[in-house]
Amino acid sequence: MIQRITDLRDYFKQYDKSIQEPEKFWAKIAKTFTWQKKWDKVLKYNLHQAEVNWFVGGKLNITENCIDRHAADTPDKVALLFEPNNPNDAPTKITYFELYEQVNQLANVLKAQGVQKGDRVCIYLPMISQLPISVLACARIGAIHSVVFAGFSASALRSRIEDAACKIVITADGGKRGDKVIDLKNIVDNAVNDVSCVECVLVVKHTQTKVAMDELRDKWLEPLIDRAAKTCEPEMMDAEDPLFILYTSGSTGKPKGMVHTCGGYMVYAAYSFQQVFQYEENDIYWCSADVGWITGHSYIIYGPLLNGATSLLFEGVPSFPDYGRFWQVIEKYGVNQFYTAPTAIRVLAKQPSELVEKYDLSSLKVIGTVGEPINEEAWHWYDKHVGKGKCPIVDTWFQTETGGIMISPIPYSTPTKPTFATWPLPGVQLVLMDPEGNEIQGKSVDGNLCISFPWPSMARTIWGDHQRYIDTYFSAYPGYYFTGDGSLRDQEGYYRITGRVDDVIIVSGHNLGTAPIEDAINEHPLVIESAVVGVPHDIKGNALYGFVTINDHSQDKEQLTNELNAYISERVGPIAKVDYIQFTNGLPKTRSGKIMRRILRKVATGDLNQLGDTSTLLNPECVEDIIKGKL
Ligand code: WTA
Repeated sequence: MIQRITDLRDYFKQYDKSIQEPEKFWAKIAKTFTWQKKWDKVLKYNLHQAEVNWFVGGKLNITENCIDRHAADTPDKVALLFEPNNPNDAPTKITYFELYEQVNQLANVLKAQGVQKGDRVCIYLPMISQLPISVLACARIGAIHSVVFAGFSASALRSRIEDAACKIVITADGGKRGDKVIDLKNIVDNAVNDVSCVECVLVVKHTQTKVAMDELRDKWLEPLIDRAAKTCEPEMMDAEDPLFILYTSGSTGKPKGMVHTCGGYMVYAAYSFQQVFQYEENDIYWCSADVGWITGHSYIIYGPLLNGATSLLFEGVPSFPDYGRFWQVIEKYGVNQFYTAPTAIRVLAKQPSELVEKYDLSSLKVIGTVGEPINEEAWHWYDKHVGKGKCPIVDTWFQTETGGIMISPIPYSTPTKPTFATWPLPGVQLVLMDPEGNEIQGKSVDGNLCISFPWPSMARTIWGDHQRYIDTYFSAYPGYYFTGDGSLRDQEGYYRITGRVDDVIIVSGHNLGTAPIEDAINEHPLVIESAVVGVPHDIKGNALYGFVTINDHSQDKEQLTNELNAYISERVGPIAKVDYIQFTNGLPKTRSGKIMRRILRKVATGDLNQLGDTSTLLNPECVEDIIKGKL
């Protein structure tokens, strides 16, 4: 068992140990797991080359630690709970023993389809039991899972499938979101049409939607599972073998397939889950994220299961059948730890307070947020109406790239403070950098957030492009990992994440690169070029504001706006819709031809007095035009 931090003094003690003797610190935690062979060396690294190896020479299978251990010790304990989209439908429970059997069955099905260690399997599923089971079945046989959020469009799915050359796609006939059914199989058909790497599409029957089945390629999953054996030997994996690929947005159009490996990821996901949520035996833990994001990987599946916890998955949305749905689910299961996104809190805080007051939320011990900054108002609402002033709020900061939570209060130990993620977890060495690449010392300062020492769950590379990994994360400040976020460090040494300092915009907690959205807009025949920037938004945190240069101003602007959003929906997904579009004759450029987003961001937010020096632009006159166009 991982030892929990007990109080503030213990946190400082553990933190110091983790800095003084990192290898010893992590080895002690790693020893609490089942390894098929112990590691020869804890850590080998060179951050300049972005080379990091943890538990070198160790052999393991993460599913033995997530499932087999608990299936032997506590077979009847519920591992996963599923709350369906519609509260009138029956929920499901899967015990650790049942999980063992179901994962093995699917693992055997995948093997029978020819999947081998190292092959990539794309998972495009709604939040139903087959999603975590598919993830774990891949891990069981050493196949690399690539989960794609089921809100992405066919072409976004296609580029991810092609990038990783996935052999199999696991999907469902459809997914339910409130009163809507999403035709997932149909989207997959469009995505894999003519994609030669995909040999087979396995389909879960869920919504009973009528779908087209390609006789040679598509197979219903259930009959194959029914015939499969319930045991499957775990594949022996090297600690540094890839466990999964998860795509995240970048500042160029192509998404980055972040690669996480077996040993270090396991140790850190388990450790951080235990510390941040202070999970106790028999607690019911609920993270409302989708498994399609890193939060779902680490804190719905791996972190909780590694700790033998009961993790709840919810298929639906916070607004269906009404805006009390989250609170109703907490009451129904007696949820003890609840983890969600600030956006959800902002939406729910706008509803009549009876919707939350009418449910009994007294089971809650820890409430958390992730994915974007939480503003002060939302923080206080969450504290008062959900935590009833007695549950610590863990404002957790991390990234797809970091694999696990890096900054968070330890509940009941670290005093919380609205809008601050507070201190780093043990093992995490944060630094703030100035633009010249000097470390900023002291308190009450802000800068670019970097990490100066490896931690076990850091991504090891970008799939198929290690140079891009070095360029994106390790070259701005050589020898450091650069997060892409700005941060403030206050008088107490608490960290507040102030937001992205690059071209990534966080909208409703979704990490959206501007490039793929602009690429989609630019495909419209009337568009010459475009730039998308973020502007503050009450509910979503950021809204998207697009500046679009077109070659024909006689077109109906409303219709054109709708057409552009349809292009984005089709090419990226509905989550990336642009809220405001301003049509322009040109965009401000540097002399080397780069669009000056800094200026556009200021225009979009109405910050016109702070435009800075525009005289060095290639086309300063267009800034005036754009300002006029906005007014
Ligand atoms: C942002 C999500 C402020 C940040 C886990 C980061 C946050 C990006 C917080 C990663 C937080 C995440 N406060 N901002 N507590 N947590 N972010 O890869 O900008 O989807 O770089 O991982 O979300 O988004 P990603």
